[in-house]
Amino acid sequence: MSSIKLSNIGQLITYDSEAKRMISKDNSEIVIHNRKILEIGNNLGDADQLIDCNGMLVTPGFVDSHTHPVFLNGREDEFKMRIEGKSYEDIAAAGGGIINSVNDVRESSEEELILRVKDRMDRFLKLGTTTIECKSGYGLNTESELKSLKVIHEVNKSHDIDMVATFMGAHAFPKEFVQKHDAYVDIICKEMIPAVAKQGIAKFNDVFCEDGYFNLEQTRKILLEGKKYGLIPRMHAAEFTDSGSAVLAGDLKSISADHLMAVSDEGIEALKRNEVIATLLPGTTFFLGKTSYAPYKKLKHAGVDIALATDYNPGSCHIQSMSFILSLACIYMNMDIMNAIKASTFTAARSMMLEGEIGSIEKGKYADIIIWNINRVEQIPYMVTDQPIQCVYKKGMPAFIA
Ligand code: NIG
Ligand code: FE
Repeated sequence: MSSIKLSNIGQLITYDSEAKRMISKDNSEIVIHNRKILEIGNNLGDADQLIDCNGMLVTPGFVDSHTHPVFLNGREDEFKMRIEGKSYEDIAAAGGGIINSVNDVRESSEEELILRVKDRMDRFLKLGTTTIECKSGYGLNTESELKSLKVIHEVNKSHDIDMVATFMGAHAFPKEFVQKHDAYVDIICKEMIPAVAKQGIAKFNDVFCEDGYFNLEQTRKILLEGKKYGLIPRMHAAEFTDSGSAVLAGDLKSISADHLMAVSDEGIEALKRNEVIATLLPGTTFFLGKTSYAPYKKLKHAGVDIALATDYNPGSCHIQSMSFILSLACIYMNMDIMNAIKASTFTAARSMMLEGEIGSIEKGKYADIIIWNINRVEQIPYMVTDQPIQCVYKKGMPAFIA
């Protein structure tokens, strides 16, 4: 395979594993060979193909470590209801919310869902996301959960973006189990998890641990059962209330605890002690019209590692742009810009256990790279709704050119 040299890079921003911090280099070059980064430096030797970056900014591709993309239609009606004064929690309690997307997914064919998910992945890639975690969770029975995971697998096979699948049968209680929560948990443990493991697509197992959804005991049971089958735990924790979910994430050594808008001090301490990554999703807070952003400063001060992701889904956050998530993190959580880039690349890759391969521009890693149309990293969150991306390289190949 031929080599490519990216030359005339104005500013190169990346996490550096040796220095253990984010670094910024001026006037550098990158040589890509065999899909991977061969060298980074100045005055590097010739390559088969030369790409002039025109003094622009270069960063790693974004890693979006929390999305729910396997649904059919949007839920604009609920968006309208929220504008009229209903809360996300009210709508869900009245039988809307996640359950609203379940009928559609159950009735859709694999092919229909593949088309929807493929379109969504095209857009993610254009926005600079090169690796994405994708959850099932709008099927809520064995057949439709397996179908959703299969959809992720099929799109992944033919798409430049890399998709990593998470089983989320514990996203909500389906209508037929509204009065029989424990019976549904039994189905997840005895029927779904073995079937998901046998199918071999999902890497992670996620549970929505929240008042009105899965309680602590049910969450523990589902995540421990998954572990027996090799599914790695992740959790939706303390999104609206923290009744011990972050502490449980610590106990179970969940790789990540996500949302954390309502996390308690005890929860923060448990995350730190057990090295659980806190994945913050400011897009959800924003989209739901709330002001209770996750306590970034407290988490950082406690020494918790922080990732940022979109939480893209039809109900609580219909946002695909990681650049916009960075703007929200900087504006509303006072996250500094270099840490926001680290959180949306390197730490997000760690939360998917992929930091050896992606998440930074370093020798030996896949060349997942964004060449921007701007020349300073500060301009990413500053541009807010613009998408100043010139080109996205995925595994050393141009996957999107503006
Ligand atoms: O992360 N909290 C649970 N799941 C999603 C919402 C999904 C939906 O409303 O469809 C979330 O916010
Ligand atoms: Fe979510």
